[in-house]
Amino acid sequence: MNTLDLAVIPGDGIGQEVVPEGLKVLRAALEGTGRDLVTTNYNLGASRWHETGETLTDADLASLKCHDALLLGAVGDPSVPSGVLERGLLLKLRFAFEHYVNLRPTTLFPHVDSPLANPGAVDFVVVREGTEGAYVGAGGALREGGVHEVATEVSINTAHGVERVVRYAFDLARKRRKKLTLVHKHNVLVHAGRLWKRIVEEIAPEYSDVEVDYSHIDAMMIYLVQDPSRFDVIVTDNLFGDIITDLAGAISGGIGLAASGNLNPSGEFPSMFEPVHGSAPDIAGKGIANPAATILSVALLLESIGEDDAARRVREAVTEDLANNPDSARSCAEIGDVIAKAVREKGSSDS
Ligand code: NAD
Ligand code: IPM
Ligand code: MN
Repeated sequence: MNTLDLAVIPGDGIGQEVVPEGLKVLRAALEGTGRDLVTTNYNLGASRWHETGETLTDADLASLKCHDALLLGAVGDPSVPSGVLERGLLLKLRFAFEHYVNLRPTTLFPHVDSPLANPGAVDFVVVREGTEGAYVGAGGALREGGVHEVATEVSINTAHGVERVVRYAFDLARKRRKKLTLVHKHNVLVHAGRLWKRIVEEIAPEYSDVEVDYSHIDAMMIYLVQDPSRFDVIVTDNLFGDIITDLAGAISGGIGLAASGNLNPSGEFPSMFEPVHGSAPDIAGKGIANPAATILSVALLLESIGEDDAARRVREAVTEDLANNPDSARSCAEIGDVIAKAVREKGSSDS
């Protein structure tokens, strides 16, 4: 039997609550596919850091590398200095496993309320660069603590890094509605902006069937609120992509629905799937987190291993659950149970 060997990192806060629901649904989705699921749980995050002072060791990385894929909940905890887990664990994983495509789809599901009065048909994908930009940690502080302190956070953009993610975005646009929007701020960030613009312009002739346009990041905030249906594939750098995708989550009915995949398209390293949201300390431990973002991330995981039919069943089950339960105050586990059951039923009625 074919096996999916999955590393599971629940992490912190609501990560511990949503990941078990994602696994419930993954198990249900794989039934009848001929693929077995083997999971290995990794204790990474705040509790491990408090116990040992470790975030992610070389041995952890070596072990994680051997899995087919990773499922992560969230990291970050108020008891740990900000950045320790975010940089030392999550970003370290994205960088070490060359997750240069951070894929973040946004759909407005039927019967889900958007906070926008006229959202239209929202269906776009943000292709966020995942290994460069302001996230690399280039910079530092001089004369720390005083009025003369100087802090820098340098955005690194390489032609190689930009080209590979732009090519991925063009390929994706070709499979969708054939529209690609580059988002940057080349009127101010002239060096990095020029590089992104040049690479998009150089590659565009190879994709003459794809319409290309451009928006500055500030104007993008207007368009996403006024007319999000105009976008298909959006390609952008690490930081702009981070910001756009929280707004995208909000306009499509809440960050609790926003899924993501950190992809290593070459297959050299395992890809990692995680909700866009964080550990949500404000609601952690209450059992009220929405597991849909994690469950939809499981659908992305299934697609990445070629289980398209299982992914379709997961998406349909989530769509139906959202339609059947507007404004319902259900627990995280109840939502996971209902969706897993629906996925199972769809599997047996299909066969
Ligand atoms: P957050 O995404 O954790 O929370 C923002 C808001 O969204 C909160 O009001 C929260 O209650 C709500 N929310 C988030 N997920 C939800 C869900 N599934 N269901 C219902 N409501 C949900 O962002 P934050 O508060 O800025 O960050 C909290 C911590 O998480 C920080 O330590 C941050 O660094 C970390 N973080 C981690 C990740 C990640 O691991 N991928 C992502 C973002 C933030
Ligand atoms: C996300 C998060 C992370 C990011 C943080 C926690 C490092 O906000 O996955 O969107 O900025 O990429
Ligand atoms: Mn974010």
